[in-house]
Amino acid sequence: MQAKIKELKTLFESHLQKAKTLAEVENLRVEFIGKKGHVTSLLGELRLVANEQKREMGKKINELKQFVEDALFVQKQFLEQETIVKVISSAKKIDITMPTGQVFGSIHAVTSVAKEVEDVFVSIGFIVEDGPEVVTEYENFEAVNVPKDHPARDMQDTFWLENGQVLKTHTSASQNRILKKYADNLAKGEDIRVIFPGRCFRNENVDASHENTFFQLEGMMVGKDISVANLIYFMKGMLEGVFKKDINVRLRPGFFPFVEPGFELDASCPFCEGKGCSVCKHSGWIELCPCGMIHPEVLKMGGIDTNNYRGFAFGLGLTRLVMLKYGLKEIRILNSGNLKFLKQTGTK
Ligand code: PHE
Repeated sequence: MQAKIKELKTLFESHLQKAKTLAEVENLRVEFIGKKGHVTSLLGELRLVANEQKREMGKKINELKQFVEDALFVQKQFLEQETIVKVISSAKKIDITMPTGQVFGSIHAVTSVAKEVEDVFVSIGFIVEDGPEVVTEYENFEAVNVPKDHPARDMQDTFWLENGQVLKTHTSASQNRILKKYADNLAKGEDIRVIFPGRCFRNENVDASHENTFFQLEGMMVGKDISVANLIYFMKGMLEGVFKKDINVRLRPGFFPFVEPGFELDASCPFCEGKGCSVCKHSGWIELCPCGMIHPEVLKMGGIDTNNYRGFAFGLGLTRLVMLKYGLKEIRILNSGNLKFLKQTGTK
C-alpha cells in the first residue's frame, strides 16, 4: 500500500508538470481525486489493509489527497494568472496621459446663421426646402421670367455646363419647382410659406467683396391676400430674430424680372442703431435683401391661379449677412478652410 501511495504521488507529479491548460488541470483532478479517481479508490482499498496499519495508511492517503488538491490549486492559479498576463500584454497599449491630438470640428458660420434664419421662419410656419446646385437653364432663367436674350442674363455671369445645364446663379432657380410642389396647398385654403437656402455660383472675378461661390436664402409666401405689407412684416421679424434687436426696414425700388413691383430692402444698421458707422458707411442703413411681389408670369409657370393668389419673394444674401454679423471685411475667408477663422467663428 505504501509503495502504491508513493507511486501515485510520482505519477501525479509527472502529470501535473504536463498540465498546461485549465482543462488539463481539471482532468487531473477527476483522474486522481474525483469520485472514481486513483486516490479515492485507494481509500476504498483501505479495508484490505491489516488493522494495525489502517490508521497510518489512512493518514498517508489523506495526506496524498491534500497534496494533490493543493498542487492542483496552485497550478490552476498559475495558469489563470498566465492567461491574464497574456491578454494584457497582447492588448493595444494606450498611454492615458498622452494628449489626444484630436481636432474637433465646428459648425461653419454660414451654416449657423442659416440655421438661425431658418429657425425664425420655421417658428412662423415656413417650410425649409433644399434644391440642387446644378439646374436647367429653364429653372434658372425662363421659369423666373428671364427669357433668352433678356439683358438681365448678363447681370448674372453664368457657369454653363457642357450639357446645357448651369450652376445655379441664384436660389430663385428653385422657385418653379417649389411653387409646383405646393400649388395644391392653396386649393385646401392653406398658403405657401417656404424658405430655401442654397449655394450659388457666378463666374465673377474674385476679390475681397466678390466670390464666385456664395450663399443665398430665399423665401416665398403665396396666398389669397398677400401684399407688400406682409413682405415688410416678415422681413422685419426675420431681421429682428437674427440681430436680436429692433430693426427698421425701408424699401427702395429695385428691378428683378421675377418680381413686380421689385424692391431693395434696407435694414436700419444693427451696429449703430441708425446713427451711422463704418459698417453702414455712415448712412444708418444697410442694403440687405432684394425682394418684391412675385411676377404673375412666374406664378403661372408654377401652376398658380393668378386670379386668386399673389405672393412675395425675397433673396436674402446669406453670405453678406454672415459678413455683417461677424464683421468680416474679406469674403474669401468664408470658403478658405482657414482653420484659425473656422475656430474663431465656428459654433459647436
Ligand atoms: N435672385 C435674385 C438675385 O440673386 C434675388 C431676388 C430673389 C430678388 C427674390 C427678388 C426676389 O439677385
